[in-house]
Amino acid sequence: MKHIASIADLRSLCAAWQRKGEGIALVPTMGNLHAGHLKLVREAQRLARRVVVSIFVNPLQFSPNEDYDSYPRTLDADLQQLAELEVDAAFSPSVAEMYPRGLTATSWVEVPELSEILCGAFRPGHFRGVATVVVKLLNLVQPNIAVFGEKDYQQLLLVRRMVTDLNFPVEIAAVPTVREADGLAMSSRNRYLSTQERAKAPWLYRTLCEAQQALLAGERDFDALSKRQLLKLKEQGFKPDYFVIRRAGDLAEAAPNERPLRILAAAWLGNTRLIDNLEVM
Ligand code: PAF
Repeated sequence: MKHIASIADLRSLCAAWQRKGEGIALVPTMGNLHAGHLKLVREAQRLARRVVVSIFVNPLQFSPNEDYDSYPRTLDADLQQLAELEVDAAFSPSVAEMYPRGLTATSWVEVPELSEILCGAFRPGHFRGVATVVVKLLNLVQPNIAVFGEKDYQQLLLVRRMVTDLNFPVEIAAVPTVREADGLAMSSRNRYLSTQERAKAPWLYRTLCEAQQALLAGERDFDALSKRQLLKLKEQGFKPDYFVIRRAGDLAEAAPNERPLRILAAAWLGNTRLIDNLEVM
């Protein structure tokens, strides 16, 4: 596996593969790799001859009051895991390499509507940062395919919308969420949880499962169901940002009989913000 930190080296490696007609899949990550990321990598390997994994904690998608400084950085362990999987290249640039003119002076990409709702409403600027770094990575690697996890479902839809709007010749592949044995969606932020919080954390998934069951059983009052589940989360000690039932394709408000739906929730346990979602066909 090649470990690359410079944009010039990444470009020349990818260009050489492209000259040979070898398809490339990109897996963008912020590192601290867990089984969820490794599933993205395996899917990328199934879909393309060459796989590039980027590891970059993107400051542009964190607000000043968020966890950019404390976000777990485990580059050596990440590189070891990727080498074991025989990934072709890991790209871990510095902030200066990605944003040489600084964070406030750099050009950015905004995806309207999808970036403003749900997580976007609670994390202003977050999706602008995500869209901007993903566009940069797509431009650098020029992959045939980029692989994203369904755990960040709003991000997945936003990236799909962006590549369609901006005519990027790339397919966006989605991989289902990987969960711990008790249902908690795998996330690098789970390591912030105290022992007591970790024991409570699977309630987020449980409330989603209950809502999924209710919808499958014929419940049509999305507002009442969401309110019930919000209350359950509060009773368990969460501070929920939202619990919603939306149209799966664009996260717009759904009519009672519309399908497929997506149930999405974000909630704080202490200082840790957890997100999760489930499909209803
Ligand atoms: O999902 C993530 O880890 C990040 O938002 C991404 C897509 C790597 C962009 O920084």
